Amino acid sequence: MWVALLIFALVRNIIQVDANFSKSMYLTWGVQHASILGEDLLLVLDKTSGSAAQSKRSFLFGSIEMLIKLVPGNSAGTVTAYYLSSAGMQHDEIDFEFLGNSTGQPYTVHTNIYTQGKGNREQQFYLWFDPTADFHNYTIHWNPTEIVWYVDSVPIRVFRNYKKEGIPYPKEQGMRVYTTLWNADEWATRGGLVKTDWQKAPFKARFQHFRARACKWDGAKSINQCASNVTANWWTSRRYKQLSHSHMRQLIWFRNNYMIYDYCTDTKRFNGQMPPECFRPQF
Ligand SMILES: *[C@@H]1O[C@H](CO)[C@@H](O)[C@H](O)[C@H]1NC(C)=O
Ligand SMILES: *[C@@H]1O[C@H](CO)[C@@H](O)[C@H](O)[C@H]1NC(C)=O
Ligand SMILES: *[C@@H]1O[C@H](CO)[C@@H](O)[C@H](O)[C@H]1NC(C)=O
Ligand SMILES: *[C@@H]1O[C@H](CO)[C@@H](O)[C@H](O)[C@H]1NC(C)=O
Repeated sequence: MWVALLIFALVRNIIQVDANFSKSMYLTWGVQHASILGEDLLLVLDKTSGSAAQSKRSFLFGSIEMLIKLVPGNSAGTVTAYYLSSAGMQHDEIDFEFLGNSTGQPYTVHTNIYTQGKGNREQQFYLWFDPTADFHNYTIHWNPTEIVWYVDSVPIRVFRNYKKEGIPYPKEQGMRVYTTLWNADEWATRGGLVKTDWQKAPFKARFQHFRARACKWDGAKSINQCASNVTANWWTSRRYKQLSHSHMRQLIWFRNNYMIYDYCTDTKRFNGQMPPECFRPQF
């Protein structure tokens, strides 16, 4: 009985942001053509501008869930992003970016993580479905031990905490949730070869069901509180250390079949000086 009460007391501090975009997010760019209506967020890109929205709150650790339906048809040159980021020069960031393509050609899912202002940890993937035909679930799971990128509950990437080994890990700065749609035709599609076809504008990306089961960031004093709060949450429960065996199998299946770029194998780019996490187990 007292255990149940204790768990309740801990979990109570994990806030669950409402199923209502208008309560938890607001438009910051392109407000003249983007919109937030209850459960739905619509981002629009045309020749005048792209658009963007961000969460009102910052979080430290949690599970951030978003359903997204990407720009259909000829989306070459467009980029839709969904990411977490803190502010400032030494910022932390966890990214999902979706690079559009010509009709019938595959989107690229571009992932990256910044710690203390430094990124350069890109991994890219194709998907096993058409991400423009329907909404799919893109979830970022972030706790003191590891960060996991999920697509429809399949883990596609893990970044583990090797802070003891001197590798920076995001655990001291709260992050907001951001979504944007913009024109990046100087690099996004086939390295910039395919340009945005403005005849097809306006381009539209749709978002639904934003959920943040996350610890509310309230400045530096939240660091220890959120670390213990989050440990009491279901997805990092008593037993949580690493992905389960079945998740691990899915992750390996996915990476064997859909990974198209991994910074840890790009020896040319790093001149042989590979980032230190590349020498550790990645998951
Ligand atoms: C969303 O939340 C706002 C603020 O609480 C409320 O005014 C509005 O009616 C809600 N909309 C829907 C569709 O639930
Ligand atoms: C989205 O995926 C996450 C991670 O697997 C899962 O916890 C959540 O229930 C999923 N949400 C929906 C609406 O399917
Ligand atoms: C677009 O399609 C081409 C040809 O299939 C492919 O090489 C490329 O990786 C795809 N994605 C992007 C973002 O260019
Ligand atoms: C959980 O975090 C909140 C602040 O976000 C704090 O007020 C509360 O004391 C924390 N609970 C625990 C058990 O650390």
